[in-house]
Amino acid sequence: MLSQDLQTAINAQIKNEYYSSYLYLSMAAYCESINFAGFAGWLRRQSEEELTHAMRFFDYMLDRDGRVVLDTIGQPPSEFGSLLEMFSQVLEHEKEVSGMINRLYELAQSENDHATAVELQWFIQEQVEEEKSASDMVENIKLAGDNSAALLMLDRQLAGESTNEQAAE
Ligand code: FEO
Repeated sequence: MLSQDLQTAINAQIKNEYYSSYLYLSMAAYCESINFAGFAGWLRRQSEEELTHAMRFFDYMLDRDGRVVLDTIGQPPSEFGSLLEMFSQVLEHEKEVSGMINRLYELAQSENDHATAVELQWFIQEQVEEEKSASDMVENIKLAGDNSAALLMLDRQLAGESTNEQAAE
């Protein structure tokens, strides 16, 4: 059985994952509003992935006879400035999430809860990927700079990747 402290912390992380999903969905809507459908598609996929993270914590709690208590999800911003500013926020957000996961891992270790520590190792690895893909986006947008043709090409490329992924499913 999970300790009360771990249950409280995991419940908070379920909410954080839902907030991440909400944040990226809001960013996707913003991208659509400025006609970058490819960037919007990337953010939508990211938003959906956050839901799978939330549900992985949800299921883990139930597997360990924990009590899931859902919290209020905060309202995300709706304006994000330039593409570079927005994707820099994605990267910063992912770094914050990595910090949250690391603190959860430290709590599990301090309680000698090995099963939770092992479960959290999956998330620690996942955060490496999450930070890398956000960082790649920031770097690509930086390369495009103020060149709107280059940004549009990047947008179309992302839209193509989305179509290819759907075709492969
Ligand atoms: Fe659930 Fe993007 O970390």
